[in-house]
Amino acid sequence: MMQKWTPAGWRSKPAKHIPTDYPDADALTRVEQTLRSYPPLVFAGEARNLKAQLGQVAEGKAFLLQGGDCAESFKEFHPDNIRDTFRTLMAMSVVLTFAASRPVVKVGRIAGQFGKPRSEPIETIDGVTLPSYRGDNINGMEFTPEARIPDPERLLKAYGQSASTLNLIRAFANGGYADLHNVHRWMVGFVADSPQGKRYQEIADRISEAVAFMGACGITPESVPQMKHVDVYTSHEALLLGYEEAMTRVDSTSGDYYDTSAHMLWIGDRTRQLDGAHVEFMRGIKNPIGMKCGPSLEPDDLLRLIDALNPANEPGRLTLIARFGSDKVEAGLPKLVRAVVKEGRSVVWSCDPMHGNTLKTDGGYKTRPFDRILSEVRSFTDVLPAEGAYPGGVHVEMTGQQVTECLGGAAAVTEGDLSSRYHTHCDPRLNGTQALDLAFLIAEQLRGARTNGKQAKAG
Ligand code: PEP
Ligand code: CO
Repeated sequence: MMQKWTPAGWRSKPAKHIPTDYPDADALTRVEQTLRSYPPLVFAGEARNLKAQLGQVAEGKAFLLQGGDCAESFKEFHPDNIRDTFRTLMAMSVVLTFAASRPVVKVGRIAGQFGKPRSEPIETIDGVTLPSYRGDNINGMEFTPEARIPDPERLLKAYGQSASTLNLIRAFANGGYADLHNVHRWMVGFVADSPQGKRYQEIADRISEAVAFMGACGITPESVPQMKHVDVYTSHEALLLGYEEAMTRVDSTSGDYYDTSAHMLWIGDRTRQLDGAHVEFMRGIKNPIGMKCGPSLEPDDLLRLIDALNPANEPGRLTLIARFGSDKVEAGLPKLVRAVVKEGRSVVWSCDPMHGNTLKTDGGYKTRPFDRILSEVRSFTDVLPAEGAYPGGVHVEMTGQQVTECLGGAAAVTEGDLSSRYHTHCDPRLNGTQALDLAFLIAEQLRGARTNGKQAKAG
């Protein structure tokens, strides 16, 4: 029998990756107290809407696109960056909507994605050892002893940045900027500029025809106001539980607890211990939640985690985000999917093809080859139906900027290019071109799977 839940209950459990070396613990408590009095960033009703839409994904009737920075930063905080990430996500979603013939649920890794679990607690450069950088809401990236000291005031700055980012996203989503015709234009512009444009032309043309056909039938943004609005949701890893606890409020409509720092929160691959603080916190909030599933997760442990996190087997409550690596997915994923299907658990299966495919170049850059990213998505879209489940989404680290952090793609970023625009504060992201590239290639895979499915039925 699970114990009664409280927002602070996680404090008595073992917690990984939460800093304990704040020089002034009282200052941290004061900041958390201040955050408790700040306005919620999202409304519980919005989180319920997202859960309902994810419920559709769980039932195979919609597709999830989740993407954004590995780590947001104070330095890269700029309206152009938010705009470009937003546009890229929208253009990806129109391609995926067409390919999947299903609505695409759009969730940004944005407006709160700051704290990072790190593989190594310390970093050594030229014989000097300092604590690792842990995200702008904890400490600073500069390699100096002062910058690396955790500072609670950073949590207030991260809250403020999240609020302004979310405000701009809401304005874009509802103010007419994300009108289908604009999104369509961005997508066509991408195809014209892409070195692989010819390859995507057919899909792009068919989308253009569909938009023109709707217009001819009188279905325009003027006649159908929904075409001018999109639902875009926010998400981040619930890592710093003091912050998440401070943002957790009782919803007056339902009487339930919601973490109002984002619509959706997820548990990282390093913090998903059944008896640990993160699982304890996440089991009590009513938001839709995610959990990363990596190579060390065994089916029995997964089922116990599902029992704890989604005891009512509610569709849309739990998204399992598989992140194995292109070389490990075939060995690790099928047994998890099989166990979940066999036990009749309702989950969304999403593919994070980024975190298992990171490598370091001789030049010292952390990077990810585009081919491996694509190959992991392909394995995922093969494995899920083979095990009787639905490949429901993708989770990517991306930006709308033309950074050079991941190798390859149509624009063929080489090892020599990495140094020119390597801006990430943590893991390498797909740039705008690579992200849309990936959407088109996933579109080809999804359409291929649908065609094969039809042929199999007919045969
Ligand atoms: C992340 O999503 O940035 C991350 C750290 O992922 P994972 O928990 O899967 O390693
Ligand atoms: Co990352």
